[in-house]
Amino acid sequence: MRVAVLNGPNLNLLGEREPALYGRQTLADIEALTRAEAAALDVEVEWFQSNHEGALVDAVQGLRGRVDGAVINPAAFGHTSLALRDAFLAAPVPFVEVHLTNIFGREPERRHTVLADLAVAVIAGLGASGYPVGLRALVDRLRAG
Ligand code: DQA
Repeated sequence: MRVAVLNGPNLNLLGEREPALYGRQTLADIEALTRAEAAALDVEVEWFQSNHEGALVDAVQGLRGRVDGAVINPAAFGHTSLALRDAFLAAPVPFVEVHLTNIFGREPERRHTVLADLAVAVIAGLGASGYPVGLRALVDRLRAG
């Protein structure tokens, strides 16, 4: 089984970016956590981060037929990007949406995402653990058929 993990804008700065909110772990630390979980699950992981909406749209379009599912932290594009939503509608692949923070308890403009209703599940507020937890939940769901 193969799963893509997609990361949106500014997540490349994790560790130094608003650490009181997002923690001290870098994206590379989170990737290592996620890959360890993937190894335990016997799943292959593709890791991708971009600050560019179009690059993420291309990445989503490219998932179909190549991976079994995806974990995505769309970051701010999750609140705004109909293009990203349209990409999942055009090239459907089961995905779990992850946010490090509990977006539902943050500013009003962060409490809604344009992907949530398309997702298998939304995980928000578990910090870095949300990635391996989301991966495991997705793989359980995919294996259950
Ligand atoms: C985030 C939450 C978003 O609102 C924010 O724009 C991010 C990170 C999170 O992981 O908590 O960049 O997706």
